Amino acid sequence: MKLLQDKIINEGKVLSNQVLKVDSFLNHQIDAFLMKEVGKEFAARFENEGITKIVTIESSGIAPSVMAALELNVPVVFARKRKSLTVTDQLLTASVYSFTKQEENTIAVSNQHLTSSDRVLVIDDFLANGQAALGLAEIVEQAGASLAGIGIVIEKSFQEGGKMLRERGLRVESLARIKSLENNEVQFLEETEAAV
Ligand code: G4P
Repeated sequence: MKLLQDKIINEGKVLSNQVLKVDSFLNHQIDAFLMKEVGKEFAARFENEGITKIVTIESSGIAPSVMAALELNVPVVFARKRKSLTVTDQLLTASVYSFTKQEENTIAVSNQHLTSSDRVLVIDDFLANGQAALGLAEIVEQAGASLAGIGIVIEKSFQEGGKMLRERGLRVESLARIKSLENNEVQFLEETEAAV
């Protein structure tokens, strides 16, 4: 997605060979116009899938998810990373290990908001090692719902997540795919290179 790639080039900061900081439009301040376009793009890619619900994870997955949800006219459910005082329903949970933070988190969704009649689009902001996406896919499976695919705003293709999820037969649609952050420079994977 050209608009997103341009934004990454203009405002992204390469912190290391592994990490891209995008705090000015995605992870802290949010560029609402860009998110609207991101939402439209996800909606277009999954429009024929009969999506009934978008499932994401707090916090940075919420903005792109809400924008896609407006386009598809469906609700968004976000998995919580912390226990909520008010959620007293039965919880669907998955354990997610973050290689980046080297910690294990339990993520949870109430079974009131995800059921076997749902057709789900999972959305997240970043795809690195794929553990968050895998955890969300597990929760969808526990609910007995069907998973149409996974929409990612920024995929770091040089990490394992995309390959791992696609090898499991999951449809992964990433709006920007980064092949390298080496030498302080962002390089994108072009569509022609992207056949996995
Ligand atoms: P994984 O789910 O793909 O395995 O990712 P990993 O554990 O490596 O990532 C942990 C957190 O760091 C996630 O956000 C993920 O989105 C984010 N992240 C991973 N790589 C990058 C990167 O290069 N740049 C930025 N900006 N973020 C990255 P989180 O902790 O859940 O944060 P948030 O959603 O509350 O913002």
